[in-house]
Amino acid sequence: MTAHSQAFEQWIRTDFCDLNTELEHLYWQQEDKANVEGIGSELKQQLEDQGRSLILPLLDEGNTDNGFDNAFDLLGNVGLYMAACRRHEITEPSREQSSPLIEASALAMHIGASIGVTPRFATAHLTTHNKAQNGVYKKFTHLEDEKVFIDYNTKGILAYKRAADALIKIQPLGISHPITADLLLAAKQGLKDVIESNKLLFNKLDTDRFFNCVRPYYKPYRVGKEIYRGANAGDFAGINVIDLQLGLCFANEPSYSQMLVDKFLYMMPEDQLILRECMRSTSLMEDFLHAQDCQQQSWYQQNLGLFLDVCKAHGKTAIQHHNQLVERYISKPSAGIAQQHMDKITASGPPLHVLLDELEKLRDRRAAHQRDDIRTRYADIQTLKSTLVDK
Ligand code: HEM
Repeated sequence: MTAHSQAFEQWIRTDFCDLNTELEHLYWQQEDKANVEGIGSELKQQLEDQGRSLILPLLDEGNTDNGFDNAFDLLGNVGLYMAACRRHEITEPSREQSSPLIEASALAMHIGASIGVTPRFATAHLTTHNKAQNGVYKKFTHLEDEKVFIDYNTKGILAYKRAADALIKIQPLGISHPITADLLLAAKQGLKDVIESNKLLFNKLDTDRFFNCVRPYYKPYRVGKEIYRGANAGDFAGINVIDLQLGLCFANEPSYSQMLVDKFLYMMPEDQLILRECMRSTSLMEDFLHAQDCQQQSWYQQNLGLFLDVCKAHGKTAIQHHNQLVERYISKPSAGIAQQHMDKITASGPPLHVLLDELEKLRDRRAAHQRDDIRTRYADIQTLKSTLVDK
């Protein structure tokens, strides 16, 4: 890491975090907690100026060639700065044609294009690729609820990844291999860990704090001319690897493939490769459906039983995400918010009801619910269940 990028990194870990925290305290004291206009103008100016003065020499340096990790970290730092400016409405995409953070945009675009990711901060920057120093990792604020949110996002993502890794390893072995049962058990355990982690998050995270002081840092913002949607915990390949390997979702279905296309550049390049590979392979669901003539075999009974358990666990994580996390932390508080703030609620940009409708479809695909407007595996799961001796 160069001296300039180190200075910027140190600022993000210290003064940047202090300034955001002070601003959050000011917003929080208002009756309308969602308002940021006219509040803490001096602090906002300091944030903008300090960031710009640290970014200028980095832009002049013009050197992203210190290895992928450094470039990725630097992009994350520029992204945190730009997201904070958006949160405090120092920038506002609907007000501007192009980001007024000209130097930050240029640096972000240079790095993003050179390493093959979007030129904004992504979930990985705050979760799976966020180095702790003496026990403390990078955050926007010192607020306890932000830490709870990031801790449990990281835990959930890593658990999903364990499940995905296990499922991918079944491909070359096949569904009748004696060791496939171990991998299905590992996938089931990973998904159980997601459920456990989400439960803890649900118990610990304060709704008002999350909605007013954490979520706003995940809004879309402009880099150069383009608006980039906010980061969300789903921006890693594992969740879709599970969808596709299990066969609960279809890569050739328009709305699902649209989501994949949209999220590719929000993922780490290694995740992009994994997902591409996975989009080209067949699913375990298809393999079991084609193997029904083996239903007398003990491998079929054992592995199908485990496969259906994994599908059920995956559905449960989706139901929990939608019916608990999204409902409590997004849908409900949105209902009570003043109309002028409504259009800026979601991280991805579309109106809330459109987003919720999409998330509901994802839930129903993953849970194989019976629906007549989208393709789910409801009937196939019933067919497979009927071939189990021990139902
Ligand atoms: C307070 C907690 C959480 C809330 C309120 C929440 C809300 C949301 C929302 C609203 C979206 C849609 C994207 C957008 O806004 O642009 C989303 C996407 C997603 N979230 Fe969460 N989320 C939470 C925690 C988590 C956790 C802990 C995980 C587990 C790793 C997770 C996994 C996902 C996934 C995979 C997606 C992408 C869409 C999908 O494939 O289902 N979320 N989340």
